[in-house]
Amino acid sequence: MKKIIAIGNDHAGVKLKNEIAVHLRSQGFEVIDFGTNDNQEPTDYPIYARNVANAVLEKKANCGILICGTGIGISIVANKMKGIRCAACSDPYSAKLSKEHNNTNILAFGARVISQGLAKMIVDSWITAEFQGGIHSKRIEMIEENNK
Ligand code: RB5
Repeated sequence: MKKIIAIGNDHAGVKLKNEIAVHLRSQGFEVIDFGTNDNQEPTDYPIYARNVANAVLEKKANCGILICGTGIGISIVANKMKGIRCAACSDPYSAKLSKEHNNTNILAFGARVISQGLAKMIVDSWITAEFQGGIHSKRIEMIEENNK
């Protein structure tokens, strides 16, 4: 099955978002771009975090990627949404483990923090990882208890 990836970013993330989208499409992924595509006008990252998170929750996409200046603001907003587990990562190891242990459905990173090359490595590491289940499933259920 073709994997559909929702991607969104604020003004700080436009350039890196475009590079990541090309990188993913060249590997055969379908990428739905939720914007912004304006890197001149400052905008508000919660808009894009919510739109990408809703696409994942409504199963319009299999997973999501969010980019802001640091990856922090946009990941905080995503994590406020029930059913979303988003990790802001600056290294491939954390990204891989965030899927294997935490079953993240959104990956975030900061365009002002990491290089384009590292961002691609982080994305590749996350997108190819699989949730390991087992003991980790119980912990995911415990996370969801916060939302009851
Ligand atoms: C925008 O200047 C910046 O605050 C935003 O991109 C992000 O880094 C917030 O967490």
